[in-house]
Amino acid sequence: MQPTQPITVPIQLGHTNYSILIGKGLIGAPSTWEKLPNSSLALIVTNSTVAPLYAATLKTALQEKYPRVLTLCLPDGESFKTFETLNLIFDQLLKAGADRKAILFALGGGVVGDMTGFAAACFMRGVAFVQVPTTLLAQVDSSVGGKTGINHPLGKNMIGAFYQPELVVCDLDVLQTLPNRELSAGLAEIIKYGPIADMTFLQWIENNLNALMSKDVSALAYAVQRSCEIKARVVGADEKEGGLRAILNFGHTFGHAIEAGLGYGVWLHGEAVGCGMVMATHLSCRLGLVDEVFVNRLTTLIARAGLPVKGPRLGGDVYLEHMRLDKKAQAGEIRFVLLNGPGQAVVMGAQDRLITEVIEKCCS
Ligand code: NAD
Ligand code: GLY
Repeated sequence: MQPTQPITVPIQLGHTNYSILIGKGLIGAPSTWEKLPNSSLALIVTNSTVAPLYAATLKTALQEKYPRVLTLCLPDGESFKTFETLNLIFDQLLKAGADRKAILFALGGGVVGDMTGFAAACFMRGVAFVQVPTTLLAQVDSSVGGKTGINHPLGKNMIGAFYQPELVVCDLDVLQTLPNRELSAGLAEIIKYGPIADMTFLQWIENNLNALMSKDVSALAYAVQRSCEIKARVVGADEKEGGLRAILNFGHTFGHAIEAGLGYGVWLHGEAVGCGMVMATHLSCRLGLVDEVFVNRLTTLIARAGLPVKGPRLGGDVYLEHMRLDKKAQAGEIRFVLLNGPGQAVVMGAQDRLITEVIEKCCS
């Protein structure tokens, strides 16, 4: 099978460069995989929801290149993004007699992608891996840029490594089976790129949201492409988050507190980020950095995307406690990605009093 000509977004980090392929029919096409490194063993890591949909198609295509292709099916869900599940990948690799040339394929959403990437970073101190993201969120964010890891009961994504894939393959066909709630979660990460980096893109999203929500393929293709271009530029300038890359965490400080406070998996990551962006924009407004017109504009778009715009009433102290564990915090001071005017992000702290005020205003 030949795919339609894919769009290629390059990601250039100096020490390694790779491509993000975006198109239809990519997973089942042997040509997608032909330039990857050779290996005697390819392991597809997927989960119990995605495996019945796409694992056989990927396996058949990979068998054209790799003499041995195995599939490992993990339990599905954010609550399984743990050491125990990670260890299942190592168990499988060791039982199969994998060596340093083994190559892993992460077939799934961000949970599978983050865990498989981390397993690749650790196994024999590093083996090759490929991201095959199957959620919108994973295609526009988590599969790109090399953040890999697992959760700890005390904090999300606290254990991990920066480890880049060989290739990212965004097959738009797989988005057709994605539940609407997951589609909305992906839209949150797409919307994120507008206020932090590209107001023209924000306006494009506003104008094309209905097409995106009805899974129009050309709208999805452009949204994935533009998101990956912005992310590739940011990660190319600051791979290990010495500074600039932190802007990609817009909405995540409040969002991670919601996820951890409610228990992982109650709200989807994208839902928490969507609501977190509303809260961060309110805080930006309280600090005089954006006006209320912009707060209302962004809140309206996030609500139209089917995302919550009111946070859960966890209590101000619970939010603050979780946010102090955020990776951007310094010496106990919470630091937020805020908007310094529409289209520009800034990382800064705020007084607890103002943060609590925003939490009160934004929760129901
Ligand atoms: P997910 O991986 O849990 O996938 C969401 C659900 O959709 C799952 O039930 C999954 O099995 C199902 N699914 C996946 N593809 C499907 C398809 N094509 N059809 C039907 N169902 C499908 O969640 P997610 O939103 O993809 O990713 C969230 C995770 O990504 C979080 O753990 C978050 O921390 C992480 N993340 C990482 C980065 C990064 O830079 N590494 C960035 C953003 C988010
Ligand atoms: N999702 C945030 C980042 O990749 O840095």
